Amino acid sequence: MHIYKTKTTPDTNGYYDTITVVSLPPNQMTAVTINGRKLILVRLEEQIIAFNAACPHAAADLSRGQLSRHKITCAKHDKCWDIRSGRILHPEDENYRLTLYDVKLSDGIIKVKLP
Ligand code: FES
Repeated sequence: MHIYKTKTTPDTNGYYDTITVVSLPPNQMTAVTINGRKLILVRLEEQIIAFNAACPHAAADLSRGQLSRHKITCAKHDKCWDIRSGRILHPEDENYRLTLYDVKLSDGIIKVKLP
């Protein structure tokens, strides 16, 4: 787990610079804190995914969870989500969703749009 902290301002479209795409290892979680807000970046094949590190169930730190391909399991209560869609996978009858963020690449920099 790599952790990066940045203090920055967004571009005119609300995207914040994070890290370079070459510094994001594939199939692993990389935590990035932007102005005190922690999120997780994952590169799955050619897709880069960004989501809030606070578990939607009870706010545990998802960077302490387990990532297996596109599934993340929270270490606190073992609930599991699909990081591509944010939908809960286990237990199926619950409605907690991951907060996903828009991502774009510009000059090799991963940029994330935060609300
Ligand atoms: S805090 Fe993550 S599953 Fe409960």
